[in-house]
Amino acid sequence: MHAVEVGNLRRVYQARIGVFRRSIKEVVAVEDISFSVMPGELFGLLGPNGAGKTTTVKMLATLLIPSGGRACIQGYDVVRDADQVRRRIGFIFGGERGLYWRLSGIDNLRYFATLYHVDPDVVKKRIPYLLELVGLKDRGNERVEGYSRGMKQRLHVARTLLHEPEVLFLDEPTIGLDPVGARDFRQVIRNLQNENKTILLTTHYMFEADALCQRIAVINQGKIIALDTPEALKRFVRDLSVIEFEVFGVSSDVVQRLREQPFVDSVAVEDREQKQLLLVQSLRGPEAVPDLMSLLNGVHVGRVVVREPTLEDAYVRLVGGGA
Ligand SMILES: Nc1ncnc2c1ncn2[C@@H]1O[C@H](COP(=O)(O)OP(=O)(O)OP(=O)(O)O)[C@@H](O)[C@H]1O
Ligand SMILES: [Mg+2]
Repeated sequence: MHAVEVGNLRRVYQARIGVFRRSIKEVVAVEDISFSVMPGELFGLLGPNGAGKTTTVKMLATLLIPSGGRACIQGYDVVRDADQVRRRIGFIFGGERGLYWRLSGIDNLRYFATLYHVDPDVVKKRIPYLLELVGLKDRGNERVEGYSRGMKQRLHVARTLLHEPEVLFLDEPTIGLDPVGARDFRQVIRNLQNENKTILLTTHYMFEADALCQRIAVINQGKIIALDTPEALKRFVRDLSVIEFEVFGVSSDVVQRLREQPFVDSVAVEDREQKQLLLVQSLRGPEAVPDLMSLLNGVHVGRVVVREPTLEDAYVRLVGGGA
């Protein structure tokens, strides 16, 4: 049996628009999504802002009712058997609140354990174990207000593990964490994986998905546009080279002109401090540089680098290069 099974899932929001919010516009957040996750698998959902990742996760976590299709967690339907599903899942959403800052980490866990009706004898053993699992063993007695953002996020994980869920939904769990905090958090995710938890992770960070996930579904505009292992997704761009131009102010006309070239596969622009990085994917590799330079005539170009494609480039190519 699959841990998570999703078939033609769909969700439409009724958004109120206009000054008096009188007219209603339908927003198709998730158009048609199907996938399944094996028990113990770490499955990634990757996609640009507004792709429908959070909406999908919320439907699986029984927080939103699907408009169509169906989803099952360990064989239980997220609508019909919502109670059964809730007993088996845990979730955290990025930037989540909901901890008591004036209480210590341990007291927060005690509080939530009572709220979730976890057996007090079990709780006694469980809390030290969970604090160790999330790397807060030595900090459990301190008040949460003194925790860093990363520590709070890890306490959230301990909180959601109190009732021993087997399937976890982590929606952008490393958002807003500094590189060290994010690295510590990834270690927690690995610990969870060693505990044989099934994990559905959404992230914007390709290297994170690459480092952690066994399979990745790339979603865009409410649909899955690719679903494979990180290696296979990288193979999808294996024959391409990426040419990076450091530019200082590039117009959309120029970008458009580059996109129209037959030897150009995709173009993306990333904003950096006081400059931009123009990423051009091409099958021609370094040989494309002179032609691209002449197309960039009039644009102030700094450093030019030709490199091998990464998972991130595969993603850029999949979602259409610079949406
Ligand atoms: N409550 C809501 N009412 C109306 N539209 C919504 C609502 N929540 C989300 N949407 C819309 O649904 C679409 C999908 O949103 P969703 O939050 O699922 O995307 P996401 O992939 O999680 O994006 P992000 O990477 O920014 O978190 C977007 O177009 C969004 O504007
Ligand atoms: Mg989201």
